[in-house]
Amino acid sequence: MNRRGFVTGGAALAFGGLYAGLCFEGNRLVREQVRVPILGLPEGLEHFKIVALSDFHLHPFTQLEFLRKAFRAARALNPDLIVLLGDFVDATVDAIDELGPALSDLNARHGVFAVLGNHDFRKGPAIVERGLVRHGVEVLRNRGVGLSVGKHSVWLGGLDSYLGEQSLPAALSGRKDGDLTLLMCHEPDIADEIAEDGRVHIQLSGHSHGGQINIPGLVESGLPPMGRKYAFGSYAIKDLFLHTSRGLGMTTVPFRFRSAPEVSEILLVRKDRENTVSPLLNKASI
Ligand SMILES: [Fe+2]
Repeated sequence: MNRRGFVTGGAALAFGGLYAGLCFEGNRLVREQVRVPILGLPEGLEHFKIVALSDFHLHPFTQLEFLRKAFRAARALNPDLIVLLGDFVDATVDAIDELGPALSDLNARHGVFAVLGNHDFRKGPAIVERGLVRHGVEVLRNRGVGLSVGKHSVWLGGLDSYLGEQSLPAALSGRKDGDLTLLMCHEPDIADEIAEDGRVHIQLSGHSHGGQINIPGLVESGLPPMGRKYAFGSYAIKDLFLHTSRGLGMTTVPFRFRSAPEVSEILLVRKDRENTVSPLLNKASI
């Protein structure tokens, strides 16, 4: 091989390796275990387990087989509650007809609930909602439900995406004082407003894909509106605990880099009065 052939071959190998690595990352499922310390958590709610899945983006860059793998992982965690945080479809709304039956494999003691994401709103929110409801997923669009967990009450509210109409008072309407309060909202950056309100203990979000292509120094420019401040991981904002999932799927490009797909396992634990900051918390910005 001459020198030119050697350099060209080396470059092709390096490019091939990089391409394979980027594709591999998009299919490398990671379980993120998050312990949420809550002051005064009743004993009956200790170790209540929520599994959160987000950003499915079925087709063209995310395949159903990969999502099925995530659903099997979610089931195996034996959750009390499963929450689906939006962006079910990507290129066309018809994908919900394929995704819906697969979602009916999910199972949790207190049910499977969802909110819609910005991509669902762009493609047809009513169609996505119908496709979810048909397969046993309850969609919370600016409303909430009270869950009876033993003798305790947990309020689960759902807010529409910022591309729809959002109403926190409607999502919390019916909640009783003292209810442990969870809120699903696709976009994380509404958290400042939620923390200001003060009634929600835990907000669960997705949307940002952790940047999807997380190149230090460049990732910020690729983050979406309403997903820039709290792009991935866990945060304490006043008394609110926020977890932002990196999600499962891919949009725009068929790659992930340093931002592997995530199944979030969220466990409620009692907060020690002395220990006011969880070591698991990220900084409030990346
Ligand atoms: Fe998304």
